[in-house]
Amino acid sequence: TAALPVDHWSRPLHDLRISVMDRCNFRCPYCMPESTYGEHFTFLRNDERLSFDEIERLCRLAAPLGVSKLRLTGGEPLLRPHLAELINRLRRIEGITDLALTTNGVLMSRHAAELRDAGLDRVTISLDTLDPALFHRMSGGRGALDDVLAGIEAAQAAGFPHGVKLNTVVQRGVNEHTVLDLVERFRGSGIVVRFIEYMDVGNRNDWRPQAVVPSAELVKLIHERWPLRAVPPKYPGEVATRYRFEDGTGEIGTISSISQPFCGGCTRARLSSEGVLYTCLFANQGTDLRMLLRDGAGDEEISQLLRDTWLRRRDRYSEERAERHGRVVRKIEMHYIGG
Ligand code: GTP
Ligand code: 5AD
Ligand code: SF4
Ligand code: SF4
Repeated sequence: TAALPVDHWSRPLHDLRISVMDRCNFRCPYCMPESTYGEHFTFLRNDERLSFDEIERLCRLAAPLGVSKLRLTGGEPLLRPHLAELINRLRRIEGITDLALTTNGVLMSRHAAELRDAGLDRVTISLDTLDPALFHRMSGGRGALDDVLAGIEAAQAAGFPHGVKLNTVVQRGVNEHTVLDLVERFRGSGIVVRFIEYMDVGNRNDWRPQAVVPSAELVKLIHERWPLRAVPPKYPGEVATRYRFEDGTGEIGTISSISQPFCGGCTRARLSSEGVLYTCLFANQGTDLRMLLRDGAGDEEISQLLRDTWLRRRDRYSEERAERHGRVVRKIEMHYIGG
């Protein structure tokens, strides 16, 4: 068997993040603002999205290239009918040691037990604030905080083997004042909250550097209330920086793609709902795998294309951000490829 591929900067391929649904039941202004994603926006047709057969096949071909971690994202992945069936199939692939889901949580209470039974290892739920009115606004007027809190409880009760995490995107002047509430609420619950710096993903949000709250500032704020101690990374290039509460009530994380980019250890590839493979969250071009799948290509050919795509990879967008001085480039929208 051939050696595992590494990219131009010697980074191996470990994770595949798969968007199973471009639609979402929220309209978060930083991701799918209502002004663009109103009732006239055209989403993919059902037959334009990869089928479960196609997704499973790509995952089976990706595993021997080094992929051991799969994450299902969206849009909102729980809007994809019969998602548990896909999880059940992906669970059986040899070499996959971690199967995760990123969701806004609204439909979680309905599906938690089914997803666990299908073999899902863990769940990450997005929760930007505990203020009900602000939550409603930050979901673009579509979401109710209580539904998400119920979803988080259901996920915890279901007992996913690798646990539950929360993702909180922090924006200056929007939800930064509600960070301590979130910490207080989930401290000691076994749920790890990760604070994400607001990023310049896509072309349709109004990202400005001033809207970013640097993680160092949050860590200082939290540390003054509940003393923290830095924890070494679990693996090189870990996305989140981890901190443990000194009083033993658990840990939090920060994801600092703006203030401390982590491209050097980036082992992630992303597959869009329509079957385009992207080697960076900020890529403007990808590799169309659906065309190949539907043209009757053999395993060998698809596998070779996956390998070649990774061998050619040079992406390090977040590290180049500073060097670009705000020069605008076109990027893929987040709801096509997930976080
Ligand atoms: P675990 O640590 O294994 O739970 O996974 P993870 O760190 O990949 O977590 P998750 O997938 O929940 O990612 C959290 C957020 O970090 C995403 O929603 C993105 O906003 C951001 N993120 C994840 N991967 C990348 C990446 O490769 N580049 C950038 N710039 N941001 C990323
Ligand atoms: N910056 C940072 N995080 C973002 N997410 C969506 N858009 C952005 C952005 N511009 C987060 C969501 C979710 C995860 C999938 O990505 O809030 O937690
Ligand atoms: Fe919000 Fe996630 Fe939906 Fe984007 S995909 S609109 S971040 S819930
Ligand atoms: Fe990886 Fe691109 Fe994110 Fe850098 S910006 S960590 S290369 S996905």
